[in-house]
Amino acid sequence: MHNRIVSFCLVLLILSTAIVFAHSQGKKETILHGGKMGNITFPHHMHQGIIKDCMVCHVDFPKEPGALQTSKKAGILKKKQVMNKTCLKCHRDRKKAGEAYGPVKCSGCHVK
Ligand code: HEC
Ligand code: HEC
Ligand code: HEC
Repeated sequence: MHNRIVSFCLVLLILSTAIVFAHSQGKKETILHGGKMGNITFPHHMHQGIIKDCMVCHVDFPKEPGALQTSKKAGILKKKQVMNKTCLKCHRDRKKAGEAYGPVKCSGCHVK
């Protein structure tokens, strides 16, 4: 009996977390899988502040935790696709335009 109550509470917790994430701004900062190059600490809210339009990034993957890995495993995204077409593209374009920009070198994002 006790176990059932515990599992029920766990299910409720998982569901409410999922709902909160679906409607929230997501994490302030998140760790992205970077393969053998090492993971990336991604300042999510800082980017939301600069970019405003969520879809600049989320057009390619849903607003869900772990979405990049899930989409790569499902073959919806190619490896390094978001890195090249979204992250690096913006950082390089802004550097060229003389605006504030993010890392353009591997080690600026990937930390071993
Ligand atoms: C610069 C790119 C970028 C922008 C702009 C962006 N996001 Fe995200 N978002 C990400 C990445 C990367 C993840 C993590 C995906 C993963 O874990 O694989 C993410 C994850 C999320 C998640 C899932 C929870 C989490 O934090 O892991 C939510 C919710 C979310 N974003 C909401 C938003 C909203 C709302 C906006 C606009 C106000 C927004 N995002 C703008 C890149 C972005
Ligand atoms: C602006 C940040 C950024 C920079 C700079 C960057 N990367 Fe990445 N990298 C990412 C992100 C985000 C991912 C995960 C998303 C993806 O695979 O598109 C990633 C993923 C990867 C992966 C793993 C792909 C997989 O799924 O196995 C490799 C390997 C990689 N990067 C190599 C590099 C190399 C080499 C450089 C330098 C030439 C580099 N990265 C520069 C952000 C960056
Ligand atoms: C549309 C433009 C744009 C996109 C897309 C974008 N960035 Fe950035 N990023 C910026 C700008 C601008 C800055 C620099 C902000 C500053 O220093 O004022 C930045 C800074 C960063 C920084 C450095 C943060 C720090 O504390 O110095 C990292 C790491 C980063 N971006 C990673 C990423 C990753 C990973 C992605 C893709 C998931 C991404 N960015 C997508 C514009 C973008």
